[in-house]
Amino acid sequence: MDLTFTEEQEMMRKMVRDFAKDEIVPAVEQMEKEDRFPIEIIRKMGELGLMGIPIPEEYGGTGMDYTSYIIAINEISKASAGVGVILSVHTSVGTNPILKFGSEEQKKKYIPKLASGEYIGAFALTEPGAGSDAANIKTKARLEGDDYILNGSKLFITNGIAANTFITFARTGEGNKGISAFIIERDTLGLSIGKAEKKMGLHGTGTVTLSFDNCKVPKGQLLGEVGEGFKIAMANLNFGRIGIAAQALGVAEAAFEHAVDYAKEREQFGKPIAHNQGISFKLADLATQIEAAKLLIYRAVDLAERNLPHSKEASMAKMYASNTAMKTAIEAVQIYGGYGYTEDYPVERFFREAKVTQIYEGTNEIQHIVIAKNLLN
Ligand code: CAA
Repeated sequence: MDLTFTEEQEMMRKMVRDFAKDEIVPAVEQMEKEDRFPIEIIRKMGELGLMGIPIPEEYGGTGMDYTSYIIAINEISKASAGVGVILSVHTSVGTNPILKFGSEEQKKKYIPKLASGEYIGAFALTEPGAGSDAANIKTKARLEGDDYILNGSKLFITNGIAANTFITFARTGEGNKGISAFIIERDTLGLSIGKAEKKMGLHGTGTVTLSFDNCKVPKGQLLGEVGEGFKIAMANLNFGRIGIAAQALGVAEAAFEHAVDYAKEREQFGKPIAHNQGISFKLADLATQIEAAKLLIYRAVDLAERNLPHSKEASMAKMYASNTAMKTAIEAVQIYGGYGYTEDYPVERFFREAKVTQIYEGTNEIQHIVIAKNLLN
C-alpha cells in the first residue's frame, strides 16, 4: 500500500486548508456562542465542490477519490469538528446511500442537488429506544395504496435543522430484514422537525429530533428493496466511520499542534515546560498515536477505494482515532494548565469536540463488537 498522496490529493489538502483558515476559523467563535448552523460556510463549500467530493461528475459531483474526501474532512475538522461532521454526515450517510442503492431516477433527482450543496443531507436511524441496538427501531412504515405511512420518532439527527433530505429507516416487517430505507423530503406532510439539542460540543450542527405523524411518503421514495434498510444502514456506516475517524484525527492534530506550541513558549522554573520529560514524553506518545491513527484511517480508505470489505478496518480506525483525539485533548488541557480550563484558549473546545467521536456512528463499545465479529466469523 502506497501512503504517498498524489499531487491532486495534496492540492485538495491545500485548498481545504486555505478555505478553513480564511472562512471557518474566523467563524468558529460565533458558531460556538450562537449554536447556529453555518449555512453560509456550507454554501461556499458547495461552490468549491466540497459537498460532493467523491460523487461522480455525471451526478454533479467533483468526481475525486475517497482519499481526497477523507483529507478534506480531516483538514476542516482541524478548524471546526462541527463543520467536519456536517460534511461527513452529508456525504457518507446523507448522499452515498442514494448513489449506492438508489434508482437512476432517484440519483438524477437528488444527487446533483446534494453534491452542489443546494441540498443538505441527513441520516435518520437512531431512535429514543434504539441507538446502539439499531435493528430494534420502532418507527413503522405501512403501505397504503401508492404511499407509505410513517409513524414514530428519530433522535440525534445531525444536520437535521437545515437538511432537505433524510435517509430514514422504518419498520416494514419483523427483525433486521424487516427494515426499509426511504428518502424523505423536509417538507413532507406529517414530518415535524424539533428544536436543536443543547450539546456539550459541536455547537451549530443542528442535531434534532424528528416526528413522523401519519407522514405520507410516496412509494417511489423507497430506497433499495423492501427489507434492505438495515443492510443499507450498515454498509454506509462502515464508510461513514472512516469519516468520523478523520474528523477525530483533525481534532487530535489541532490539540497536538496547540500543545506543542504552548509547551515551547510557556516558561516555568526558568525554562520552557517542553524541556521537562514529563511534558516531552507525553508529546512523543501523542505524536506516535496520531501517526498510528492516520495509518489506520488511510488503510481503511484504501480498501474502500478498491471496493473491498472494510468494516473491520473502519471500526478500528474510528475507535483508535477517537480515543487518540480524546487523549490528546485531555493532555493538551493539562499542558495549558489553568489557562486550558478557560474558554480563552481553544483546547477546551477540542476537549468537548473529541468526546462525541467516541460516541456517534457507533459507540466505541459497538466498534469492539464489529471488530470481534469480523475476527471470529
Ligand atoms: N457491515 C455490513 N454488514 C453488517 C455490519 C457491518 N458493519 N454489521 C452487521 N451487518 C449485517 C450482518 O452481516 C447481518 O447480516 P445477515 O443477517 O445477512 O447475516 C446483519 O447485518 C445483522 O447483523 P447482526 O446480527 O450482527 O446485527 P445486530 O442487531 O447484532 O447489530 C450492530 C449489529 C453492529 C450492533 C449494529 O446494530 C450497529 O452498528 N449499531 C450501531 C448503530 C450506529 O452506528 N448508529 C449510528 C447512528 S448515525 C450517526 O451517529 C450519525 C451522526 O450523527 C454522526
